[in-house]
Amino acid sequence: MSELDPTERLLRSCRGEPVDRPPVWLMRQAGRYLPAYRRVREQVTFLELCRDVDRAVEVSLQPIDEVGSEAVIFFSDIFTPIPGMGVEVDFAPGPVMAEPIRTAAQVEALRVPDPRESVPYVFEIQRTLRRELASREIPLLGFAGAPFTLAAYLVEGSGSRHFGTWKRMLWQEPELARALLARLTEMTVGYLNAQIEAGAHAVQLFDTWAGMLSPAEYREWVQPSHREIAAKVDRSAAPLILYVNDGAHVLEEAAESGADVVSLDWRIDLAEAARRVGSRVSLQGNLDPCALAAPPETIAKLVADLARDAAPARGHILNLGHGCLPETPVEGVRAFIAAAKGLGASA
Ligand code: CP3
Repeated sequence: MSELDPTERLLRSCRGEPVDRPPVWLMRQAGRYLPAYRRVREQVTFLELCRDVDRAVEVSLQPIDEVGSEAVIFFSDIFTPIPGMGVEVDFAPGPVMAEPIRTAAQVEALRVPDPRESVPYVFEIQRTLRRELASREIPLLGFAGAPFTLAAYLVEGSGSRHFGTWKRMLWQEPELARALLARLTEMTVGYLNAQIEAGAHAVQLFDTWAGMLSPAEYREWVQPSHREIAAKVDRSAAPLILYVNDGAHVLEEAAESGADVVSLDWRIDLAEAARRVGSRVSLQGNLDPCALAAPPETIAKLVADLARDAAPARGHILNLGHGCLPETPVEGVRAFIAAAKGLGASA
């Protein structure tokens, strides 16, 4: 097959159409492992960086020039749209709520504003990126946090090992938990559709904490919001990628969410995942981010193994199994992307 441009390659892979080789990008590809990011970050706080259109565009583009990534994810955080709902959030370095959400009155007070008014800079960043990327035919990815993961932080108040307060709420005050998830689902649908309108070629939903539930709990507390989002997001304009961290035990449920792509962490082999999902969805992933510390030859072998294992899937996007870590050697990231690009040459 003749060489596709990176946008066409990514969109075709999402939809399960033939490609010359798998596309490649990395979750958290703009971040502290890059000296160029650290230089920008020295001048501003993380929150300032997310709201500063010029700087956010600059760091979003860094992975293209610095490591050769083939997609751009706009620089932001899953908590960016939350202050617009009336919740005060800070970063230290993870998200911290000034007042954790624990009562019905707090849930009822949550606003679902038009994101174009509450976070206009997000769409300005995306429109600028689309213009910058047009000549290079590089796709732009939008994203949002999934309702379950956002709720876990909102109720707990910050990151946590087990999110016990949030999980207890599911059992002690299920109606309150459901109301909170409903509000977040409504916000997420509007937020993703506004990103698609601003030019995102595809959008990814990050559900980092959904994997901590049993399959039955996942079906009750997570899958309905994924399905509602997949049904209401304009997937004809932009495919939806669903990332469920630690989700090997709920793979079938993720494949039946209505998303176009399921993004997996490294706890499952892509060959097994491909067998289990069949032709329902494409796959994304799934190298352990720590493996980027290996020598370049080892990384090249791991990439070839991932591509081979994923070959039976209807489509595959090479990526990590979770975000790139701050300690990652830049050379390891370059080796990962170079190996992915080399897959076409030998085919
Ligand atoms: O992928 C990308 O390059 C886009 C940017 C992006 C960030 N966060 C930037 C960021 C994305 C997609 C996220 C998603 C995110 N944020 C998730 C879901 C995916 C995942 O990683 O599990 C979650 C749970 C968060 C919440 C969050 N934000 C945490 C826990 C932290 C602290 C951890 C850390 O790495 O410092 C953040 C801060 C954050 N978000 C940073 C970046 C680059 C670090 C900010 C800095 O100090 O420079």
